Amino acid sequence: MKPISIIFFGIALIAGLSFCKSTKTSTTAAAPSAPVTGPVFVSFDKEIVVAQKVWPGTALEELKLGHSIYNNQCTSCHNAFEITQFKEKKWLHEIDDMSPRAELTAQQKLALTKYILSYREANTVAKK
Ligand code: HEC
Repeated sequence: MKPISIIFFGIALIAGLSFCKSTKTSTTAAAPSAPVTGPVFVSFDKEIVVAQKVWPGTALEELKLGHSIYNNQCTSCHNAFEITQFKEKKWLHEIDDMSPRAELTAQQKLALTKYILSYREANTVAKK
């Protein structure tokens, strides 16, 4: 190769590399960066009633665990979504899709599911 073609090749290589890199960065950036806080949650009174109807014997601790997972582990790539904005079916799908991304254990995933679905059910007003 003549020196000039080496230079061209080098430029093309660098351009190619930085193109790949920037594509990757923009994919990550597509999910808006997340503040650690989620919606402030005062009481689990309604949620625990709903949860125990669907999953008898559900402990309050499990809903609290689900709540904490949702607001901490599920917000590393995007903000916490308003739970009532999605239908139950959509949530079940998203929970399946997102749990591996948040590296949840089966137990954590179950607690998260109970929290999201009972919160949704208890707080959805005419959105079904
Ligand atoms: C590793 C990053 C990452 C983590 C962790 C993560 N998400 Fe996501 N989430 C995404 C990306 C990226 C999207 C955009 C759509 C897609 O890629 O599927 C998304 C989309 C979603 C959507 C769809 C929103 C819509 O408008 O349709 C929901 C709901 C959601 N995430 C919930 C969760 C929950 C619940 C958790 C915790 C178990 C979680 N996410 C953890 C990256 C993540």
